[in-house]
Amino acid sequence: MGLDDAVIKPHEELAARLSERLDAVNTLIRERMASRHAPRIPEVTAHLIEAGGKRLRPMLTLATAEMCGYGGPYDVHLAATVEFIHTATLLHDDVVDESRQRRGRPTANLLWDNKSSVLVGDYLFARAFQLMVEPGSLRVLDILANAAATIAEGEVLQLSAARDLATGEDVYLQVVRGKTAALFSAATQVGGVLAGMDEDREKALYDYGDALGIAFQIADDLLDYQGDVHATGKNVGDDFRERKLTLPVIKAVAAANARERAFWQRTIEKGDQREGDLEEALAILARHDALARTHADADGWAGRAKAALARLPEHPVRRILTDLADYVVARVA
Ligand code: IPE
Ligand code: IPE
Ligand code: MG
Ligand code: MG
Repeated sequence: MGLDDAVIKPHEELAARLSERLDAVNTLIRERMASRHAPRIPEVTAHLIEAGGKRLRPMLTLATAEMCGYGGPYDVHLAATVEFIHTATLLHDDVVDESRQRRGRPTANLLWDNKSSVLVGDYLFARAFQLMVEPGSLRVLDILANAAATIAEGEVLQLSAARDLATGEDVYLQVVRGKTAALFSAATQVGGVLAGMDEDREKALYDYGDALGIAFQIADDLLDYQGDVHATGKNVGDDFRERKLTLPVIKAVAAANARERAFWQRTIEKGDQREGDLEEALAILARHDALARTHADADGWAGRAKAALARLPEHPVRRILTDLADYVVARVA
């Protein structure tokens, strides 16, 4: 089934099902992004938060909590925590990547400056930590504090792995697991922890989030080459211009002939990029079927995500989360 045939997309179905709790999350986010002394904080934060965003990670926390039978109030706090961490990493990431567009708007680093993005990002991280304490669970703190460290670790590992043609798929996986999947798996796991799930089920929730996050980031890296700025709200070709070695390029480098290797050395390693190079990169990727093979890997991770869900009891939310695994990959046409 093509994407356009889908009547309602799984993340929209989740949003509809969780709408009341999601409204509570958005209210809590607005409340906690306030600052009594520094108006720059709500200005920068509102710019990004009010631009929307899919709210995928907070929905994962609300959904897993519901699926596991949680009936208390703290899923909202943890969902807001997760979105705060996400927002903080986006502010920092756009500085590091020198990105100019996010959620269809100019980035905060472009509209204000790098200093504002870094410091407001720090503020939001601290706000996230204040929020995650509120359920009074050390286990929850442990999971979310670990995730915050792992995300930063993934971003730093990427700094040294990007631009290095020797980077292989194993390092790419480690980067992606850190910078993206760690927050997905924490988001799904804490939903189960709130509900007091046993260790096996908690692990299944973790495995689902981990595999979903990896599939999601691989798909995002594909969109960077074959996406559409109107659909993603981000520029196409950013990764190539930033000389980032993502999975499609890693596959093409592994299969490169001497001339292609020289092209990757010039454009990615040396950063000597000229008019028409992005098109040439796309032609090389096509020659080695690199985008299709990357897509197949993403599909594989979506399959692992679904297999993890199958270890959990039947529930209407479980079906939506299963569809979501397919959707994160299918969003790449
Ligand atoms: C962007 O995540 C960062 C990545 C991990 C690729 P999303 O695509 O979920 O961003 P928003 O929140 O919907 O803008
Ligand atoms: C996304 O990194 C992960 C984090 C924000 C930590 P990317 O740099 O690949 O994502 P986009 O393309 O900027 O959203
Ligand atoms: Mg980026
Ligand atoms: Mg980045």
